[in-house]
Amino acid sequence: MPAKKTPALHPDLESVLLTHAQIQRRVKQLGAELKRHYRDEEITVVAIMNGALLFTADLLRSVDNPVRLDCVRTTSYGASTESLGTPKLIHGLTLDVTGRHVLIVDDILDTGKTLSLISSMIRGMRPASLRVCVLLDKKGRRQVPFEADLVGFEIPDKFVVGYGLDFAERYRNLHEIGVLKPAKQKV
Ligand code: IMP
Ligand code: MG
Repeated sequence: MPAKKTPALHPDLESVLLTHAQIQRRVKQLGAELKRHYRDEEITVVAIMNGALLFTADLLRSVDNPVRLDCVRTTSYGASTESLGTPKLIHGLTLDVTGRHVLIVDDILDTGKTLSLISSMIRGMRPASLRVCVLLDKKGRRQVPFEADLVGFEIPDKFVVGYGLDFAERYRNLHEIGVLKPAKQKV
């Protein structure tokens, strides 16, 4: 049998941290965990734009529960690899979440500031339950205490792109998640 060809490394990546296959496998497991927890209950998913878009799309299709989807947006990193100050909400919820089972979904938990902000906002709306699911967790980077209920992968303190994660809005469409070359971390 011919050896399986490894896909070429994107020229702007230093290395691949998670392959598309690893991500897909883990997303299915997360879907199964959600199903175990929520059984047949309806879930109101709140995705944090734009980074969570691809992950949310796959995660939603890995559960067969009735699902309502809403999106919120906070101020972004812009063309930087560091969070600048305190994020602000720039687009809030359109669905009513009072009395609903809310699941917040984000691509990555870094300083914890974004998820603290969104969680406390939603908690104030008195949902029936509130849980947080992130694909990636950079545990060593927290500036405010925050833990997610469901984590896809714990990753080291490296700036990563792909599968929804961006640098200056680029690389979101990569199938894999990789470490961006330092030389590419400026615009
Ligand atoms: P936090 O508020 O610092 O936890 O930041 C969370 C947000 O920062 C995420 O939703 C991402 O959009 C962004 N972010 C943090 N680390 C990375 C990274 O390594 N690559 C791309 N975006 C990141
Ligand atoms: Mg984000």
